[in-house]
Amino acid sequence: MTMILRLLPFLKPYWLRAVEASVCMAFTTVLALPMPLLSVYIIDHVIANGQIQTLHIVCGALALAVMLGLGLGFLQRLLLLVFTRRVFFDLEMHLFDKTHTLPIGFFRKYGSGYIATRISDDVRQLRSLMAGTYIEGLSNIALLLVGLGIMVTIHPGLAIAVLVIAPGFLWVNLHFGHKVRGLSDQVQEKKAITTATRLESLDAAPVVRAFERGRGEARRLARDMHSEVNERLKRDVTLASAGVLQMVLYSLGGLFLLWYGAHEIMVGRLTLGQFVAFNTLMAYVYGPMNQLSGLYVNVQKGLGILKRVCEIMDMSPEKGRKIGARSIGTGEIAFENVCFGYEPHQPILNNLNFSLKSDRITAIVGPTGAGKTTLVNLLLRFCDLNAGRISIDGTDIFEFNPRILRREIGTVEQDIRIFSGTIRENISYGKFGASQREIIDAAEAMNCMEFIERFPDGLDTRIGSGGVQLSGGQKQRVALARAIIRDPKILILDEATSSLDPRSEGLVQDALKRATKGRTTLLIAHRLSTVSIADYIYVLADGRVVEEGHFHDLIERDGHFKTYYQQDRIAATA
Ligand SMILES: Nc1ncnc2c1ncn2[C@@H]1O[C@H](COP(=O)(O)OP(=O)(O)OP(=O)(O)O)[C@@H](O)[C@H]1O
Ligand SMILES: [Mg+2]
Repeated sequence: MTMILRLLPFLKPYWLRAVEASVCMAFTTVLALPMPLLSVYIIDHVIANGQIQTLHIVCGALALAVMLGLGLGFLQRLLLLVFTRRVFFDLEMHLFDKTHTLPIGFFRKYGSGYIATRISDDVRQLRSLMAGTYIEGLSNIALLLVGLGIMVTIHPGLAIAVLVIAPGFLWVNLHFGHKVRGLSDQVQEKKAITTATRLESLDAAPVVRAFERGRGEARRLARDMHSEVNERLKRDVTLASAGVLQMVLYSLGGLFLLWYGAHEIMVGRLTLGQFVAFNTLMAYVYGPMNQLSGLYVNVQKGLGILKRVCEIMDMSPEKGRKIGARSIGTGEIAFENVCFGYEPHQPILNNLNFSLKSDRITAIVGPTGAGKTTLVNLLLRFCDLNAGRISIDGTDIFEFNPRILRREIGTVEQDIRIFSGTIRENISYGKFGASQREIIDAAEAMNCMEFIERFPDGLDTRIGSGGVQLSGGQKQRVALARAIIRDPKILILDEATSSLDPRSEGLVQDALKRATKGRTTLLIAHRLSTVSIADYIYVLADGRVVEEGHFHDLIERDGHFKTYYQQDRIAATA
């Protein structure tokens, strides 16, 4: 019950649609009544007395009532469809919004395919259940009650006989309803896993093709799908069994009434007209009764899905999103005795100490897997520390609201993501509402205009899916412009120029030197030509700083840096 209450805030804005639909429903139910009542009158009086004129009038009125009832029924459905579409649109948006406040670890753990199913498919399932069943359930209850009421006035004994099968229906519902709830929960879970596998495979289509692993991918999907199909089968067999039992009860009930009704006519306690009316009313009672049992099962199914929706709603957002604004001053950063590991038993950083001065470019170099990108993740508050402290201007970064903190940081991530859309949109992604001048300035500063101007649509060229595919180096330059346009106090460049050719890198480096003025810049790079623009360099290995100094001092020294430098030179001349 409390779970259903969670939906109230989403239902509230559209309550009027629901009220309008209920009014239509009430009229539709009332308009369904003249048919059985007037059939008693036609058979027992009009036919018996040969009143042809009355027959025309009564049938004409009935036709009008039926047409009006159908019209109102259509309007009711329309209103309810609009109602449910809007309610569940809002719910899906709420969940999507919510996921972007959850800790980044949540995305790493579950992957986008799984999460997409949880926040989108679950909601759609819930909507179709609600639109198709819950609402029809209401009008069925009304029809059932009214039908039964009329039956009681015609022949109370026969009306009670109609209900003989009700306990059977109730048992079927309770017994199968619970089973279906658990099973549909399982189906959704397996479906989320299958979707994740499918999306990952399609996303990596070029890799799959390059290794010609299409068959293998199909087998991988088949493995997941088998377990989804098994769960679906279990659920559908349970639903089908419930359906068959309901049909058996329905048929037996009908036969019993035929026997009892015919008997009552023969002994003179029921007229033929009343018996015909009873049979019409039976459809009003048994039909809804049958559908209501389906309703119960579907409510259980829906509750299973609603539970999953509520789980997402109840997840705690990342820490500190409610902390008040505290702005960054000069942006000096210090890592003090920082210890961190993604897994508790696998430390990546051990007692790491270093600082980044403002108005300076500080480079971090070190072998693959040394933990350089991990530093960025920590600085952006994507992960919590195990021990130690990271501060900006002397304040622990955990005392900042992460949203405010990130607003002051411009990042070019190692694994660049460009969104489908125009180049203009991608650059202005870094600054909401950026002006044309700002976009052009950022693009020019990062040497993007050179390739942008070659596209006929310039900045309005569509890139990503459905558009032009940018090269690795072009993507990096767009990402640099995206980071620089927000005029950040802190600039993080994680292998930001690794795909550029020497000429482009030279041009971008000149631009970077200008763009980093007045900011704290963290430059992560393998290529030593990139590092040469740094004011100070730290060499990272085994999770700690093993060497530090100015570029020229480090080259002179016989240490880790020089070894890298020599390897780089050998690699460059090889
Ligand atoms: N999300 C994660 N979960 C668990 N371990 C991770 C995760 N991300 C990185 N690691 C591990 O942390 C270590 C450091 O990774 P990191 O990405 O920081 O290295 P890096 O120095 O940036 O390397 P590269 O120069 O190749 O980019 C690696 O051993 C890696 O396997
Ligand atoms: Mg890295």
